[in-house]
Amino acid sequence: MKATMIVEKDFKIAEIDKRVYGSFIEHLGRAVYGGIYEPDHPEADEHGFRRDVIDLVNELQVPLVRYPGGNFVSGYNWEDGVGPKSERPKKLELAWRALETNEIGTNEFMEWAKRAGTDVNMAVNLGTRGIDAARNLVEYCNHPGGSFYSDLRISHGVKDPYNIKTWCLGNEMDGPWQIGHKTAHEYGRLAAETAKAMKWVDPTIELVACGSSHRNMPTFAEWEATVLDHTYEHVEFISLHQYYGNRDNDLPNYLAQTMEMDDFIRSVISIADYIKAKKRSKKHIHLAFDEWNVWYHSNEQDKKLEPWTVAPPQLEDIYNFEDALLVGGMLITMLKHADRLKIACLAQLVNVIAPIMTEQNGSAWKQTIYYPFMHASVYGRGIALHPIVSSPKYDSKDFTDVPVLESMAVYNEEQDQLTIFALNREVREPLQLECDIRNFEGYEVAEHIVLENGGNVKQSNSAGSAPVKPHSNGDASIDGGTVTASLPALSWNVIRLQKRGERG
Ligand code: AHR
Repeated sequence: MKATMIVEKDFKIAEIDKRVYGSFIEHLGRAVYGGIYEPDHPEADEHGFRRDVIDLVNELQVPLVRYPGGNFVSGYNWEDGVGPKSERPKKLELAWRALETNEIGTNEFMEWAKRAGTDVNMAVNLGTRGIDAARNLVEYCNHPGGSFYSDLRISHGVKDPYNIKTWCLGNEMDGPWQIGHKTAHEYGRLAAETAKAMKWVDPTIELVACGSSHRNMPTFAEWEATVLDHTYEHVEFISLHQYYGNRDNDLPNYLAQTMEMDDFIRSVISIADYIKAKKRSKKHIHLAFDEWNVWYHSNEQDKKLEPWTVAPPQLEDIYNFEDALLVGGMLITMLKHADRLKIACLAQLVNVIAPIMTEQNGSAWKQTIYYPFMHASVYGRGIALHPIVSSPKYDSKDFTDVPVLESMAVYNEEQDQLTIFALNREVREPLQLECDIRNFEGYEVAEHIVLENGGNVKQSNSAGSAPVKPHSNGDASIDGGTVTASLPALSWNVIRLQKRGERG
């Protein structure tokens, strides 16, 4: 089987916004308590944050973390999580039916983010609360001082404002499961008024309005149009959320779901542009895919958990090799829309549907999906180039003309590096890739990273055992401006090219 690709310097989609390699930490399960925070752990720092977890987050080079939810934020009073810890209330957390101790709140999380080298994408509660709580939180976080909430922050030991730039106006407000679920008109009005007040406190912030919780929501499309009709002048982003699963154990169909993701992205761009046209606006709304991942392995076990406990092991999907392939495909799909998709958050980061898992008092380890996410985040910085691809195709249960090769090229001009990300969806055979890199003269193959697993697609990693991990023994080579490589059956590939004589 053979596929060809043309990569040309001038076929620019856009500069990739580093925030597409964002992630997400919610007060849910063991993400915070027992995940990033475990004060009794031997690796804990003076704040109780696990250093081994921070090291793994650093390796991923995550530039942005959405916080504190998720469904959690729709019942959250941010004031419960600031000030002396001994006075913080324990609350029934209704979204996930757990007990929230509020031991970690805004200031502790901002401290963790600083240590993890990431910015925060802060969500406000538009479920049980609204304009007042949101504008007060912006004042608490971003105002230098001399006002009630900024002085309150200072009295809590934080002199300098955080200057948080990106904010989410609630979470999944279209979903009946959401505390304070709203119609599109109700949410659109509230989001617009909240946005105005938040920006009056700090005009430099950027705001994300809630789009649909997933593409199959009955209100999808109408929801986005109505919400943007209300909020267009006040927000910069509309959100998308999507999780996939291989419930039918149909691998070709599972790996083809990126086509649906692509269609979802295109549809939201069209809806945003329809409202732009309707309003005769010059402004483009960008997309924030602020929840995406595979989520289905833990669904059954979660039904058996006792309610009202602290940090129950919820949403602890153990990912296998095929999940890593889909995650790679989802990353390529998002990069193809680098001109409009400027934020994306892998949901989530630690223990909860996460690339990083922890054992209580034990190790922190990498799930299979850790690798494609790390490769994209580390090597996918620069300009997204539009690749011209010719690939064999197949049909699956829900999709026709699925390309066997899913690929993308990223040009890092500063470092003189070109990176090709390539997913081979073919189950049995390797795919011979021939990639014409025409005007990239003097480039040579620096590394061909491969994540493959010899056909055992259900293989997962665990604490102390990592059978699924990449190697750098791919056979990519270059001759006369053409890169050739054999992409093993069912594999994720990163072909890294570097201009001869330049930094490696
Ligand atoms: O990421 C887990 C949950 O998925 C989030 O809390 C919610 O927004 C979504 O439904």
